[in-house]
Amino acid sequence: MKRQETRNPNIVLVGFMGTGKTSIGRRLSTQLRMRYVDTDDVIERDSGRRISDIFAEDGEPTFRELESEAVRKVSNLYNYVISTGGGVVLKEENMVALKRNGIIFCLTATAEEIYRRVQHQSHRPLLQTPDPLMKISSMLEERHPYYAKADYMVETTGRSFGEVMAYIKRVFTKSIRDPK
Ligand code: S3P
Repeated sequence: MKRQETRNPNIVLVGFMGTGKTSIGRRLSTQLRMRYVDTDDVIERDSGRRISDIFAEDGEPTFRELESEAVRKVSNLYNYVISTGGGVVLKEENMVALKRNGIIFCLTATAEEIYRRVQHQSHRPLLQTPDPLMKISSMLEERHPYYAKADYMVETTGRSFGEVMAYIKRVFTKSIRDPK
């Protein structure tokens, strides 16, 4: 008889662009032997288009609808590390769906640190502006109340991947052992 897989909750990573969701998410999934999915990849795969093209051709509201569709899909999974796009927190329905089977960790970093990490990347449509640092600061302020809805906030500035991962693993393992 096939052994039934234990239905552990997902580790969900939210947070602003450049806070390390993808790098940390991939490493965590390997270490914890969990599967990995990124909502931005789901959107690109399902639509056959790049995120920057969706923004440029159809605008942000269309992107947000596709994002919610991707969230609905990944929220049905178990035993996954799920990385999300930086704006996933903006819709209440996304957070409700992700929380159903998941523990949500919000990765944070200072505006200066985020700028340092993303300044040479050109694939982020929201940062294609003359003053990206200013844009990052104002978006962080605007989004703060949404990010604060995560179960745990994890500061990454000045911390190695190993340190951030150790914290997430500790909290996750404990919450599986003693569910609230
Ligand atoms: C966005 C962040 C991006 C991507 C899209 C919008 C945002 O994801 O979903 O460009 O609104 O912050 P990353 O956070 O993975 O860069």
